[in-house]
Amino acid sequence: MSDQVLVIDDEAGVRTTLRRALEEEGFCVATADSAHAGLRRAGVDRPDVAVVDLKLGDASGLDVLRDLKVLSPTTVTIMISAYGDVQDVVQAMKLGADDYVQKPYDLDEMVRCVTQTLHASRIREQFGKGGRATVQSDGLDRILGESESIEDIRETVRKVVRSGAQTVLILGETGTGKELVARALHSESSRAKHPFVKVNCSAIPDSLFESELFGHERGTFTDAQETRLGLAEVANGGTLFLDEIGDAGAGAQAKLLTFIEDHRFRRLGGREDIDVDVRIVAATNKDLDEACDSGEFRSDLLHRLKVISLTLPSLREREGDISHLALRFVEEFCAQTAKPAMTLSEESLECLESYSWPGNVRELRNAMERVVLLEECDSIEPEHLSQKLRGSSSLGRARGLVSRSARPLADVEREHIYRVVDETEGNRTRAADILGITRQTLINKLKSYGHPSVVEREPVDADTA
Ligand SMILES: Nc1ncnc2c1ncn2[C@@H]1O[C@H](COP(=O)(O)OP(=O)(O)OP(=O)(O)O)[C@@H](O)[C@H]1O
Ligand SMILES: [Mg+2]
Repeated sequence: MSDQVLVIDDEAGVRTTLRRALEEEGFCVATADSAHAGLRRAGVDRPDVAVVDLKLGDASGLDVLRDLKVLSPTTVTIMISAYGDVQDVVQAMKLGADDYVQKPYDLDEMVRCVTQTLHASRIREQFGKGGRATVQSDGLDRILGESESIEDIRETVRKVVRSGAQTVLILGETGTGKELVARALHSESSRAKHPFVKVNCSAIPDSLFESELFGHERGTFTDAQETRLGLAEVANGGTLFLDEIGDAGAGAQAKLLTFIEDHRFRRLGGREDIDVDVRIVAATNKDLDEACDSGEFRSDLLHRLKVISLTLPSLREREGDISHLALRFVEEFCAQTAKPAMTLSEESLECLESYSWPGNVRELRNAMERVVLLEECDSIEPEHLSQKLRGSSSLGRARGLVSRSARPLADVEREHIYRVVDETEGNRTRAADILGITRQTLINKLKSYGHPSVVEREPVDADTA
C-alpha cells in the first residue's frame, strides 16, 4: 500500500499543487484546509506523513503539531514556514517536528523532503535507536513546582485518574496550567493510548458547534458530500478537552448538556444514536458562577461539569515557586539552545518574586526564554531582565542606577546605559542626549555589550542612517 500524506494548508493553490506532485511520486494524498479539519482527518487516517503550514487561518501550525503528536504519534511531521518564522521553526523542532521547508520552495524540494524524512524515520525505527524524535511526556512530571498548593494539585490529579471520573472541570487564571493538567489527566490514565482531542469552544461559531462536535451524515447540507466524524467520535476511548468552556454559546451549551448526561449523540442528519466512551475535561478562566448569575452560562450545565473541579492557584499564591520555576525554565532553555548553563542571581530572583505575574506561569516561562535567548552571561542580573520585572523590586530599580561599592566602574556604566536605553524605549538619539555622549559612541558601546537592540535591530533601524 502506498504511503499516506496529509497536507494541512489553508491556501487552495498549495493544496492542489502539493497533492499533484506527491501523487505523481506514488503517495496517497489527503488534504485539509484548516487545523480543525486536518486534526480530525489525522485522528481517523493516522497518515504516515503530515505536511503542515505554520500559519493557518484558524490556528497556529504549532498547536496542530502538538495535537498531532498526541492524536497520531507515529506520523512524520514536516512544517512549511515563511521567511522570518525562525522562532516558530525553533519551537516546532522542539515540539518534535521532523523537518521543515521554507517558502518559497520548489515542488521537487518538497517531494524530496517528504521522501527522505519518511525514509530516515523508518530506518531509525528499524534499528531501534530511540526511534523518531521522542514524543514529549505530557504527564504529571511536566507540572513543575514545589509549593504546597501545586503538590495538592498533583495529588488531586492522581485521585481523579484513579477515580475514573467521567467529567472534570479545571478553573484558574490564564497561564496557570489548565491545559497542562488536562493533558496530564489524559496521559496518566488508561485512556492514554486513545486520542486527546481539544475543542476550543471560543473559536467555533455557535451555529457550527453541533456539526463540529457530532459530525454529519452525507447529504445533510448541499456541500456535505461525505459523512464526517465529529470531534466527540474522534475522541472515543480518550479525552475530550472542552477548552474555554465559559465562552461556549447558548446552542453549544444546550448540546453539551445532553451529551454530558448520556455520552450519546446523533450525527447531524443521522438517525442512529452513537455512544462514545470519553472523559470530558472542561477548562476556563472565567468565573462560571458569575456567568450563571448574569445568565450567560446555564447553571444546569455548570452543575454537571463541576462534580469534580480543580482550581489552579495563581503563581503569586504559590510560595517559593516563582524562583523554583524560573531556575528550571532557565535550565531547560539553556539545554534546548545548547548554551552554557546560566543561573539567576539572588537580586534577580528577588525582582521576580516581587512581580505580580498576571500572566502566571506562561509569562514567567516566556520571560526566561527571552533572557536565555538574548543574553550571554553566566549569571542573570536584574539589568538583564525587562524593565517591568526589574521595576517591581526596589532593589532591582536601584540596581539600574546605583552600584554597590565593590563593583567596577565599567559595570555601573553599562547598567546605567541599559537603563537609559530602556527608558527611552530604544530611541538612541534621546538616550545619547541624556547620557551626554554622541549617538555613534552609544551604538559602539551597545555593540561591545552585545545589547539585544543592536544585535536584533541594526539592519532595519531607520534612524541608524
Ligand atoms: N506547573 C507548571 N509547570 C511547568 N510549566 C507550566 C506549569 N503551568 C503552566 N506551565 C506552562 O505555562 C504555559 C501555559 O500553560 P497552559 O496553556 O496550560 O495554561 P492555561 O491555564 O491553559 O492558560 P489559558 O487560560 O491562557 O489558556 C505552558 O507553556 C505550560 O507548559
Ligand atoms: Mg488554555
